[in-house]
Amino acid sequence: MSSRLAVEIAGLKLGNPVMLASGILGSSGMTLKRVVDAGAGAVVTKSLGLEPREGYPNPTLVQVECGLLNAMGLPNPGVHCFGEEIMEAKELGVPMIVSIYGFSSGEFADVAEIAVDAGANALELNVSCPHVEKTGAEVGQSKELVAEVVNKVKNSVNKPIFVKLTPNVADIVEVAEAAVEAGADAITAINTVRAMTIDVETKTPILANKIGGLSGPAIKPIAVRCVYEIRRSVDVPVIGCGGISTWRDAVEFMLAGASAVQIGTAIAFSGLGVFKSVTEGIDAYLKEKGFRSVGEIVGLSNRD
Ligand SMILES: Cc1cc2nc3c(=O)[nH]c(=O)nc-3n(C[C@H](O)[C@H](O)[C@H](O)COP(=O)(O)O)c2cc1C
Repeated sequence: MSSRLAVEIAGLKLGNPVMLASGILGSSGMTLKRVVDAGAGAVVTKSLGLEPREGYPNPTLVQVECGLLNAMGLPNPGVHCFGEEIMEAKELGVPMIVSIYGFSSGEFADVAEIAVDAGANALELNVSCPHVEKTGAEVGQSKELVAEVVNKVKNSVNKPIFVKLTPNVADIVEVAEAAVEAGADAITAINTVRAMTIDVETKTPILANKIGGLSGPAIKPIAVRCVYEIRRSVDVPVIGCGGISTWRDAVEFMLAGASAVQIGTAIAFSGLGVFKSVTEGIDAYLKEKGFRSVGEIVGLSNRD
């Protein structure tokens, strides 16, 4: 792996800046290993809570124009059960970030402690899931609640805290600022965009939950704008996520201000080869343009 690609995010050393996004192939040690073998620089697990959750009935996932629409309902085995998988994944050789959610700040902190005891290298707080009540975006739409959750988790564990934000707010910058003031070590932007689709034959919404979250190429310009705005106002690394499927997309996010990127939906559309093609493409771009490291292009479009 080229040394041009190495990055350090909140003290975590990554061989390359292309990470797995939460919720796609992040549910077991075995699938995480496949993603690492495919070339990811770090992995984020599926979001875990204190108790197991079944998630919503089907349909939970549907393909729409330029992306996927999902309302999975955060199905997961619970952080206790996942402990063994985390242990297994500790041998992955790349940083493992455990994504967590809770229904109160205390619950977030409890899940954080269990995940860290099991071996998480960092935590990503999911305050942005758009389709589960009383958690996710219902927290992430209030800067006060975000600050409370970050503060509580920060005081409970001694690992880097990434905070994953929702674009479904009037001003994502004020939420990012509140998260950083409360102690966030990095911001991940963005989670899915609230959306829906309706079957014209049955005249009913297709997702069982009716409303879900849109991901994939359709949301990329929204995510780029969020990264650009956040980067201008906070001093911690921003991790870009939303619609990345080529090296050009990844470089665009970096020019907007992302220190690293995450990939989700593109794996469903193009397979795990996307990690190799994106990292190799970034490296070739850096080489061709005469840059010595990824860090040199972060935020280049964002300086005035
Ligand atoms: C099927 C599916 C499940 C997801 N589950 C989670 C999750 O558990 N936690 C989370 O923070 N984000 C979750 N996401 C959101 C992704 O991590 C990512 O933020 C979003 O899909 C945008 O990136 P992409 O366009 O590369 O997929 C999920 C997305 C999809 C498509």
